[in-house]
Amino acid sequence: MILGVGTDLANIERIEATLARFGDRFKNRVFTETEQKKAESREDVAGTYAKRWAAKEACSKALGTGLRMGISWRDMSVSNLRSGQPVMAVTGWAEKRLLEMTPEGYISTIHVSLTDDHPWAQAFVVIEAHPKAQSQDLPSA
Ligand SMILES: CC(C)(COP(=O)(O)OP(=O)(O)OC[C@H]1O[C@@H](n2cnc3c(N)ncnc32)[C@H](O)[C@@H]1OP(=O)(O)O)[C@@H](O)C(=O)NCCC(=O)NCCS
Repeated sequence: MILGVGTDLANIERIEATLARFGDRFKNRVFTETEQKKAESREDVAGTYAKRWAAKEACSKALGTGLRMGISWRDMSVSNLRSGQPVMAVTGWAEKRLLEMTPEGYISTIHVSLTDDHPWAQAFVVIEAHPKAQSQDLPSA
């Protein structure tokens, strides 16, 4: 079953301006080491950060919380599989919220999709819950 969906559109030029103004202070407050490493290795640094910013906003919507003051952005993070597919992980308050919204006997998976076309970066997040027994029937990857 679908527990939540979220979407966000981020302006790459606005992220670029924030990066120029606040530098490491902004990066370290919002992005994990993995996200920073990915962005800094790219030609399109701001676009890569903007996609991850959009992913965090979309995830907070799917979690039904929105981005409130005091929550840690780093508790929703994006990494990439070898294929390039993005994967969203939650820790701290976001993990707690995910567990709270997951019905008894179910486990949740967060799906994320990212795209960008200057000056926009976009993210979609879907949170899906499936019965624990069903997940045990799946062949291991
Ligand atoms: C998936 C694919 C269609 C993306 O095309 P694209 O035009 O670069 O896509 P967009 O610019 O719209 O979006 C880029 C985002 O797509 C996502 N993406 C990349 N590969 C993906 C994949 N295999 N599955 C799902 N999403 C993927 C990433 O989140 C990426 O942003 P990020 O690298 O900053 O995380 C393209 O990379 C592709 O055809 N890949 C095939 C697999 C491949 O060649 N893999 C090479 C390594 S084995």
